Amino acid sequence: MGEVDIAKQAPNVTRMKLLGARVIPVTFGLKTLKEAVDAAFEAYSREYKDAIYCIGTAAGPHPFPLMVRDFQYCVGEEAREQFKSQTGHLPDQVVACVGGGSNSIGMFTPFLADPVELVGVEPLGHGPALGDHAATLTYGSEGVMHGFNSIMLSDENGDPAPVYSNASGLDYPSVGPEHAMLHDMGRITYKTIDDEEAIEALFLLSRHEGIIPAIESSHALAYAIKVARTGMTGSILVNLSGRGDKDLDFIVEKYGYGPDFLEKMEARRS
Ligand SMILES: Cc1ncc(COP(=O)(O)O)c(C=O)c1O
Repeated sequence: MGEVDIAKQAPNVTRMKLLGARVIPVTFGLKTLKEAVDAAFEAYSREYKDAIYCIGTAAGPHPFPLMVRDFQYCVGEEAREQFKSQTGHLPDQVVACVGGGSNSIGMFTPFLADPVELVGVEPLGHGPALGDHAATLTYGSEGVMHGFNSIMLSDENGDPAPVYSNASGLDYPSVGPEHAMLHDMGRITYKTIDDEEAIEALFLLSRHEGIIPAIESSHALAYAIKVARTGMTGSILVNLSGRGDKDLDFIVEKYGYGPDFLEKMEARRS
């Protein structure tokens, strides 16, 4: 795990250690997600006879993207069933955040054959300049990284570009290959949400529903709120991919408890 993410998500690290894991900080490069995957691959290639490589996102060489998609598929399948039984119809839109692409591909797959708009939300971080975001499908191009061919954010030498998002799970310079295909086919639309819009959504859901979402998931939520604010009628199913407990210390230290921040965002809009 990248040293930066270990600090940002300290409660997760405490839980992992309590459960018996040995967590090794990755201290090179940006010390975040991409470097952690680099280090895991490197360790695995040295110890492949005795080790098992696992990844929590739908990226990497075959069969990992398919395995992870299939493991996450039950979330989409159950959400589709529950939505239909509670409302009598399918949602008009299904929205999920996209880092490496696992929660979104699991959520979207059961809806692929339905007349439903599928929207993947990528992190715009501080803005559209290279290095300030991790919106791979929005700004990237074809490339190879971590043993798979997909869309990727590259620097002028064709190497993976530095990426940024306040959500540790979204700052990855590529995306699972199935997303690249569905993007090119036009079946999934990809939109962006910046750091502040995501934090606003996190505060709003916490205050209004008593649910504290992860910063990653808050990107999807922020997009749904943005659409709802346009006066759209119809229904949006949002995948809350994780709880925000892991992010609390970071959020409160950086953004406070909410009221001032919500006021600032209101002003930003008007
Ligand atoms: C709560 C949460 N949501 C979303 C993601 C993004 O990953 P993926 O795009 O693979 O779902 C992460 C990654 O760590 C996460 O922790």
